[in-house]
Amino acid sequence: MSINPKDFRNTVGLFATGITVITTVDENGKAIGLTANSFTSVSLNPPIILVCIDRAVTSFSAFQTAGEFAVNILGSEQTELSNKFATSGDEKWLGVEFETWTGRAPILLNCLANIECQTREIHESGDHIIITGEVKSLASKDGNPLLYWRGQYAQLKST
Ligand SMILES: Cc1cc2nc3c(=O)[nH]c(=O)nc-3n(C[C@H](O)[C@H](O)[C@H](O)COP(=O)(O)O)c2cc1C
Repeated sequence: MSINPKDFRNTVGLFATGITVITTVDENGKAIGLTANSFTSVSLNPPIILVCIDRAVTSFSAFQTAGEFAVNILGSEQTELSNKFATSGDEKWLGVEFETWTGRAPILLNCLANIECQTREIHESGDHIIITGEVKSLASKDGNPLLYWRGQYAQLKST
């Protein structure tokens, strides 16, 4: 049975996620980043996470070659940052504050959490790659997450 892409998107879109901005650097050390909701934790010991990256995105080769990346988990008030990093072009870094930790991957300020990783494996899978990273450092703060569900941003509803 062949699966209609729209049906596929609508169905997997029922799985609610958080939103991250995944960052790294290119071969010249230039900051690279994109919005991604494909983030998942994989292993506790050692601590490993994964993210899936579309072969079609401009940032693709930087993530494939850098050997390191960071996952910045967005808070409920960071919709604008998510939209910025979901649009190609250098403007995405305008006014964005970041620092670096042990490596070169940009750590975005004021996020709910930041996770710095060393790239472990890159698996080819359809039109994406699955990139796993071993966690080298992390930080978090209190606050609500920015959520994504059925193709739209969502907020936690307290009961
Ligand atoms: C909510 C949301 C989640 C996304 N998740 C991913 C993802 O997991 N992987 C991916 O490759 N692109 C994802 N994208 C699309 C990229 O953010 C988008 O293609 C971006 O413009 C890529 O930047 P670049 O072309 O500068 O590399 C997502 C976009 C949105 C709005």
